[in-house]
Amino acid sequence: MSILNYLSLITIAISGLLLITGIVFIKLGKREIHKTCMIGASVFALIFVGLYLLRTALLPHTPYTGPYRPLFLAILWTHTAMAIINFPLAVMTLRYAFKGIFEKHRKIAPITAFVWLYVVITGWLIYYFMQWLNRSNI
Ligand code: HEM
Repeated sequence: MSILNYLSLITIAISGLLLITGIVFIKLGKREIHKTCMIGASVFALIFVGLYLLRTALLPHTPYTGPYRPLFLAILWTHTAMAIINFPLAVMTLRYAFKGIFEKHRKIAPITAFVWLYVVITGWLIYYFMQWLNRSNI
């Protein structure tokens, strides 16, 4: 595995775990830990996007030639659409939090959390498909 792929995998795994941890902590009423986790999840997600763009520019594209291709494509397309939607949602959620407008933060945050979690889980699924089911890798 190239160093870029390896770094991408680590950053996106950390981001996803921080997101889940941050959601658990706000449910427990721990606001400061929630804040730290969510800032961390956002920073690591941004690093991942940078690495992803670099990978797309530098490394050859690997097609998916494994089984369950329609399922894989459905996951990939919904993942991509939700990742695009997630960006403005996350920016708005963070802005409300940093401005201290927690009434609005509380309203939009569950939607952002749902969309972001969908992106994280389908991202891990796509990795599984590409790494373990793809015939191009065998
Ligand atoms: C995009 C990143 C973030 C997401 C997805 C997020 C998500 C959430 C969620 C799901 C809740 C619970 C809402 C509910 O059901 O009541 C919440 C509440 C809260 N969040 Fe965040 N959060 C983020 C960033 C932040 C940041 C950076 C801060 C601090 C500056 C923060 C501070 C809070 C506080 C204080 C509450 C409790 C609000 C209240 O109950 O009045 N959040 N957040």
